[in-house]
Amino acid sequence: MQIPLVDLRWQHRLVQDELNAIFQRILADPYADDLTYARELEPMLAAYFGVPEGCAITVQSGTSAQFLALKALGIGPGDEVITVPNSDLPTTSSISHTGATFRLADVEAATHNLDPALIEAAITPSTRAVVPVHMFGRPADMTRIRELAHARGLLVIEDATLALGAEHRGVKAGLWGDAAFFSFAPRKVLGGFSNGGLVLTRDPDVAHRVRLLRGYGQDPSIMEKPIHERHQQNGMAGIAEGYNFKLDGIQAAVVLTKFPYLHAWGELRQAVAERYAAGLIDVPGVTLPAPIGEDRHAWRNYVILVPPAKRDAIRHYLAQNGVTTSVMYAPPIHLQPVYRHLGLGEGSFPVVEALADSLLALPIYPGMTEEQVDYVVEKLREAFLLDTKL
Ligand SMILES: Cc1ncc(COP(=O)(O)O)c(C=O)c1O
Repeated sequence: MQIPLVDLRWQHRLVQDELNAIFQRILADPYADDLTYARELEPMLAAYFGVPEGCAITVQSGTSAQFLALKALGIGPGDEVITVPNSDLPTTSSISHTGATFRLADVEAATHNLDPALIEAAITPSTRAVVPVHMFGRPADMTRIRELAHARGLLVIEDATLALGAEHRGVKAGLWGDAAFFSFAPRKVLGGFSNGGLVLTRDPDVAHRVRLLRGYGQDPSIMEKPIHERHQQNGMAGIAEGYNFKLDGIQAAVVLTKFPYLHAWGELRQAVAERYAAGLIDVPGVTLPAPIGEDRHAWRNYVILVPPAKRDAIRHYLAQNGVTTSVMYAPPIHLQPVYRHLGLGEGSFPVVEALADSLLALPIYPGMTEEQVDYVVEKLREAFLLDTKL
């Protein structure tokens, strides 16, 4: 049996007729432009989140979504932004690209999420914002994070790239902050064939600035008109120096097609997670994801902890048996070569470092069968039984 970390074929089979129809529309429409499907997708996303129309802005990637959200909220040179060291590199690089500086704070061992108790110590007179990451799709403790941040006059910008569909206290991830950003990269919870992202805010002024910056800095009220209307216009109005960060038209069409399945596919991920938990609960040496309580996990990843000394051998055994695993995101950000100059050596963030040595992401995706989950469980058990030889 071959089980990739994420297998998209099942969902592609499910939507292929709808996709074919949408591609035919693109091919047959003389006025199809890069925003044709974004114009349909964005109101759908705004309605899903219950934000004002115009406040869900599709962009080129999660990385550009974060960059634009920070810029639109006025983050720039001289500012500091607090985030976590166990995220993907773009979480910190997007902060740096605005000219601001990131400051790292450790996470809670049980959830892999920003530890609210450590925010205070990371605040300096230059701190402007906090970027919690809903790691692996589990919502961070947004109640405390938002309370703490807002009490200190800090903005909250959620990294919800892994958490589309997650909820904390009945409120969707992405609605807790002053803004949030999501990713539509192919192997995220909901993805295109290639990159995509979303900025979410409740604030129409912030949304306007994001729109302005994603579309070259041209006045969005002209820039976002259908192409034939734009061409009829007497020129454009360049009111800022922006970027070309619009969502690619094909990806908008793909995400639009898949979006109605978001909830159902989330339920399937949940069922995979539950089956893993039931199958692995009595395997000594395996730590399962902590219970989620009343919150809703998006299960972008199913991440267990295994003894660090055995991890390579376990991965090797699983790979030999056709099961792909991953150790995302390791090594932690502060130990990556690009940040060596910061002098944040080993021991700087002990919880994140311990997690990075132990974590193991197992395959999870909608369409993963019970047989496939059971097979991964069986091979993991075997790996532990071979323990002495490993
Ligand atoms: C936690 C996290 N933040 C940000 C990003 C950036 O998203 P994208 O790949 O869409 O640019 C990623 C994705 O890979 C991620 O995993």
